[in-house]
Amino acid sequence: MRNIGILTGGGDCPGLNAVIRGVVEKCASEGIGVYGFFAGWRGALTGEGKWLTLDDVEGIQTQGGTILESSRTNVMKIENGPETVRQNMEKLGLEGLVAIGGDDTLGVANKLRKMGMNMVGVPKTIDNDLSCTDFTFGFDTASNIAMEAIDRLHTTAASHARCIVVECMGRHTGWIALQAGLAANAHLILIPEFPKTFEEIMEVIKKRYKDGKRYSIIAVAEGFELAGQEDMDLGVDAFGNKLLLNKDLAKNLASMIEKEMRNDETLDEKRKYFECRSVVLGHVQRGGAPSAFDRVLGTRLGVKAGELVVNKEYGNMVALQGTNVVSADLDKAVTERKEVDKEFYDAASLYFK
Ligand code: F6P
Repeated sequence: MRNIGILTGGGDCPGLNAVIRGVVEKCASEGIGVYGFFAGWRGALTGEGKWLTLDDVEGIQTQGGTILESSRTNVMKIENGPETVRQNMEKLGLEGLVAIGGDDTLGVANKLRKMGMNMVGVPKTIDNDLSCTDFTFGFDTASNIAMEAIDRLHTTAASHARCIVVECMGRHTGWIALQAGLAANAHLILIPEFPKTFEEIMEVIKKRYKDGKRYSIIAVAEGFELAGQEDMDLGVDAFGNKLLLNKDLAKNLASMIEKEMRNDETLDEKRKYFECRSVVLGHVQRGGAPSAFDRVLGTRLGVKAGELVVNKEYGNMVALQGTNVVSADLDKAVTERKEVDKEFYDAASLYFK
């Protein structure tokens, strides 16, 4: 009897359960047993988990989160971590492991692979920043949630003639902010790949004000950095540490914009009442049921990962390239980040007005 392990690591992501179901179904069809480790690499270190039956995974592609739980445990930071994983796999009679995760989780899988353990990677992140795959599941759901939130912010911002800064997830890249912002007609989108100065931001907001546009929405990715930020004085915290814009990004940006508008004497008198608010969408973007796209992508990736196991083609990652689900280079996927390209950002910039 052949057996493998499976785990989900890093931030949870809509579509994870579809992948688990795909792997279990495909393996079961070839008589391969699947042991689900709980809480990512932590389960592989403690051995905690359960054998997954077809009943366990029936219909779970409709559910958000992961039935296996997740954590950000790094095997490489634990004494004898890799050896403990190897021993636990041996004890359970597992010939290989399907690791579903982002760059951290897959980075560990890649290192264990180089130490001789059989690994198959499945790329996962709402941030969509893993290379070698055109999309990661979870991104579509998260962008739709962010889009709906921005749609709603339009009416409240318009009712109060306010500026609202809405912060989306994306600590290294701006895929969610750009996708949701463009879809929901944000008037300015700020992402880490294309830093802007405060003056450039104000140029857009002041032009809108002077043009008689009565409210503004700014979508910002959490990893955005203001160009020239190092020279700015945002004050200090209770411990005397210099305040950085990125901590409380949306809140800081909103208060800077409000202050600048109120103090600009070249603008009319009503500017003295200008208000700017901030909204952080946070983990709401990761919660709830996956979109149809993410359910189907997760399923296809899971079935493909199962197929690699069946064929003993270990050492790779599954990926979406074009419309095909293929086997891709795990090493490359964890060493290169997929960033928003200039063509996409420039196209969106046409609407920054
Ligand atoms: O990596 C995905 C992600 O959702 C990022 O966008 C975000 O910065 C991070 O996870 C949040 O992590 P946590 O759930 O540990 O707060």
